[in-house]
Amino acid sequence: MRSSLSICALSLALLQVVDALGGARSRRFGLMAEMGLLPDGTPMQVSTEAKAALRLALSEMPPPIVNGTEKILPEYVELPLDHFAKNHDYSYQGTFNNRFWVRESAYKSGGPVFIYDVGEADAEPNALFRLQNETSFFKQLVDKYNGVGIVWEHRYYGNSTPGGIDVNTPPEVFRWLTTEQSLADVDRFAKQFKRKNIKNDLTPSKTPWIFVGGSYPAMRAAFMRDKYPDTIFASYASSAPVEAQVDMSVYFEPVWRGMNTYGYGNCTKDIKAAVQYMDKIMENPTAASKLKERFLGLGAGKNSNPTFADALTTPFNLWQSYGIDGGAYGLRLFCDYLSTDPQSNKTSGADGWAASKGANFTVNRWASYPRFPAMVNDYLDTNCSGSLTKQGDCDLNLKFSDPAMVAWTWQYCTQWGFLQSANLGPHQLVSKYNSLEHQKDICHRQFPTAKPPLFPIWPDTKHTNDVFGGWDIRPSQVYWSGGEFDPWRTLSPLSAESFAPHPKTFQNPPKCGEEQGEDEIFGYVIPGAQHCYDFRTTFAGGAVSRGYFTAALDRWLKCFRPRHN
Ligand SMILES: *[C@@H]1O[C@H](CO)[C@@H](O)[C@H](O)[C@H]1NC(C)=O
Ligand SMILES: *[C@@H]1O[C@H](CO)[C@@H](O)[C@H](O)[C@H]1NC(C)=O
Ligand SMILES: *[C@@H]1O[C@H](CO)[C@@H](O)[C@H](O)[C@H]1NC(C)=O
Ligand SMILES: *[C@@H]1O[C@H](CO)[C@@H](O)[C@H](O)[C@H]1NC(C)=O
Ligand SMILES: *[C@@H]1O[C@H](CO)[C@@H](O)[C@H](O)[C@H]1NC(C)=O
Ligand SMILES: *[C@@H]1O[C@H](CO)[C@@H](O)[C@H](O)[C@H]1NC(C)=O
Repeated sequence: MRSSLSICALSLALLQVVDALGGARSRRFGLMAEMGLLPDGTPMQVSTEAKAALRLALSEMPPPIVNGTEKILPEYVELPLDHFAKNHDYSYQGTFNNRFWVRESAYKSGGPVFIYDVGEADAEPNALFRLQNETSFFKQLVDKYNGVGIVWEHRYYGNSTPGGIDVNTPPEVFRWLTTEQSLADVDRFAKQFKRKNIKNDLTPSKTPWIFVGGSYPAMRAAFMRDKYPDTIFASYASSAPVEAQVDMSVYFEPVWRGMNTYGYGNCTKDIKAAVQYMDKIMENPTAASKLKERFLGLGAGKNSNPTFADALTTPFNLWQSYGIDGGAYGLRLFCDYLSTDPQSNKTSGADGWAASKGANFTVNRWASYPRFPAMVNDYLDTNCSGSLTKQGDCDLNLKFSDPAMVAWTWQYCTQWGFLQSANLGPHQLVSKYNSLEHQKDICHRQFPTAKPPLFPIWPDTKHTNDVFGGWDIRPSQVYWSGGEFDPWRTLSPLSAESFAPHPKTFQNPPKCGEEQGEDEIFGYVIPGAQHCYDFRTTFAGGAVSRGYFTAALDRWLKCFRPRHN
């Protein structure tokens, strides 16, 4: 499920009330956070330090563009479905129209082109925020360099599909949904890019193109510079898990560490005790069925242990976007509830309650958390009653129905892996029944008729890393950023995990064209940050990270030389 949440540039759409959240909408939290909003649309508490940083950033900006009337409409470019067709016979497989948006009003002659990649989501809901809102870091970047700003939609998302996508789209349709094809889209688009109002040649041979992305788009930022260095002059890769890996149980390790650092060690201890206790209970089918009903109401008992175990991970869904916060569905309220003894109204000490009162105490607390059934219903698009006296249609094993989620499931199940199963061991936060096998089954649940080689049994991550190079790639003129407690940092070159390579990070801008060796990287890990926090103008540490990129860009842009085609 959380595989869907790799994205950080999610669609906007102010959610009216939390209880109206659909599963698909959970993917929008990243952007909401960037806009300074909680998932329910109410403002986040922004520290005075961050507000001061934002004011400073705004005061250092060039005066706002007076042309506030620039009307930006979606545009389309026709692209081949198969860029790698034999004999370059693109017509054989046909074409599709790829959507994008362009802002020109900041442009001055000689300025670069910035392309903001939205990745695995419908780009429409936030394209104009990105390009035009004064609090959008991307608008600020484009303004600073008097550039052209482009928001780019990834093939098979939003309106950039070869036909509508829904839960019943046959697997053959996804044949051309690969990261390779999607990178070739950008290359082809850039080479023919021009504007009626701008006389200068804006194609990459005459104008530097800068690719900006967070999360999967950050992977693309690095790959574009690596594979198409004549097209993409420089890249900003924020939180880029470029290493494909089937087993991403490590996702939950930074959550554990972060919760402990932020003062919620008692909660992690209680959660661990509770899931280990539940794992024992679930060995007995009758007891397992009762347990599920205590959590989710009558009708929940029929669900399998793995699907229930997956539902038990929903309290962590907002971690990457909000850390311990996140409003009604955030971890803070959940932990405060677990840590409170309803009899005495006392909060547990540092050890949590399970150590003294037994794990059953915490299991009962969790089962009675009033927001839990609503959370599961909203994230998993189901209808659990949450009551032992009311029957609910509580199916925890439904296919994803959101079109973007369908397409992303295809992508991670074929190429990237990122399966977020239980992190067994000392920091366990997730039931063992949420196994790797179960996460793989979710792939086949979504596409039951898809067979190898079109759709592999397990994600073909070895091939993917052979094609893209994994976390040792060091294309020149790329800046890598990460968040200290971002679960996606674990598979990025900035990973702190024991199985990762640990190159030394540095922040002084490297020379033009200089590629680092595997043991060094031009990058920065933002302390006390989660996923793509450097794209938030409301997060004080973000400006520091963006500053490293712009300092480098100042240096690199001086080296750009137009080429003759
Ligand atoms: C820009 O975004 C902020 C934060 O979401 C919002 O409050 C503001 O109204 C937006 N400004 C405009 C001009 O739309
Ligand atoms: C405003 O921007 C639009 C689109 O770039 C352009 O056509 C128009 O001429 C501009 N208006 C002014 C007053 O600069
Ligand atoms: C329990 O404690 C909290 C804060 O510590 C307080 O707001 C609340 O009113 C208390 N409830 C009861 C029933 O004492
Ligand atoms: C225990 O958890 C609560 C709420 O989750 C937190 O407010 C409190 O500071 C923690 N106490 C200790 C001693 O860690
Ligand atoms: C755990 O708590 C539940 C609910 O109070 C109770 O029904 C059950 O008997 C308890 N289990 C054990 C082993 O004490
Ligand atoms: C949930 O159940 C209610 C009442 O039976 C029904 O109106 C609603 O459509 C159901 N929602 C979903 C998502 O199944």
